Amino acid sequence: RTKRLTAPEIRARKGKIPLVVLTAYTTPMARIMDPHCDILLVGDSLGMVIHGLPNTIGVTMDMMILHGQAVMRGADTAFVVVDMPFGSYEAGVEQAFANAVRLLKDTGAQAVKVESGPTVAATIRYLTERGIPVMGHVGLRPQAVNVDGGFKAKGRTEAERLKVIKEAQDSEAAGAFSIVVEGVAADLAAEITKLVSIPTIGIGASADCDGQVLVTDDMLGLFDWTPKFVRHYADLRTEIGAAVEAYAKDVRDRSFPAPEETYFAK
Ligand code: KIV
Ligand code: NA
Repeated sequence: RTKRLTAPEIRARKGKIPLVVLTAYTTPMARIMDPHCDILLVGDSLGMVIHGLPNTIGVTMDMMILHGQAVMRGADTAFVVVDMPFGSYEAGVEQAFANAVRLLKDTGAQAVKVESGPTVAATIRYLTERGIPVMGHVGLRPQAVNVDGGFKAKGRTEAERLKVIKEAQDSEAAGAFSIVVEGVAADLAAEITKLVSIPTIGIGASADCDGQVLVTDDMLGLFDWTPKFVRHYADLRTEIGAAVEAYAKDVRDRSFPAPEETYFAK
């Protein structure tokens, strides 16, 4: 791919080649992932995996903008989506529009993502009609952690199933170009994927979705938790720990730096 993907192209991938999505927070990582990913998501998960927050509630617009700018410097062809952080869009459509504009203008990213509570369809419509592609996010919604009392899989009761399906359909009807489906059983993910005509991007939502997303730090084995839905493609915590241990030993026994790593007077 030599040209950046567009929202309509992503939408047209429904039911075709699965969409490859990972989170990105920094320039060097975006540069590494860009050739392999259709979409890079500057997720508000950055609050947890980069900044050590207990959940995503404390993430600010300024944090999203700084990391969005960093990712855009490393992303040439992937479509870049920036999460709207907690508190930046729930008060009403005008608040949401003002903050979405700030995210896109200040970072150069192509779209925003909002977690799809019952009031969010109006926001998705308002933004889409004004030129901002919006990705929805249904099922487990991390920004609802304090209402839900933790990160819990969704759709386990019939009432909850219907609610998640409705949020997905409302997001589509409001103009979302795709939706993340997080933390739901396989049959519900399959049903949503069948019912909506926009791509579903699953995380902890089975192989039936139209694409998959993981938090990059999780799949690289960097972040110290392992939910059931994460597959470790690397064990970077162990590798980095071993590298730092070796460095510490070399410093202490003065074998680093060696003469070839040292400047000498002419
Ligand atoms: O913040 C995030 O990383 C996300 C993805 C896991 C979908 O919202
Ligand atoms: Na998020």
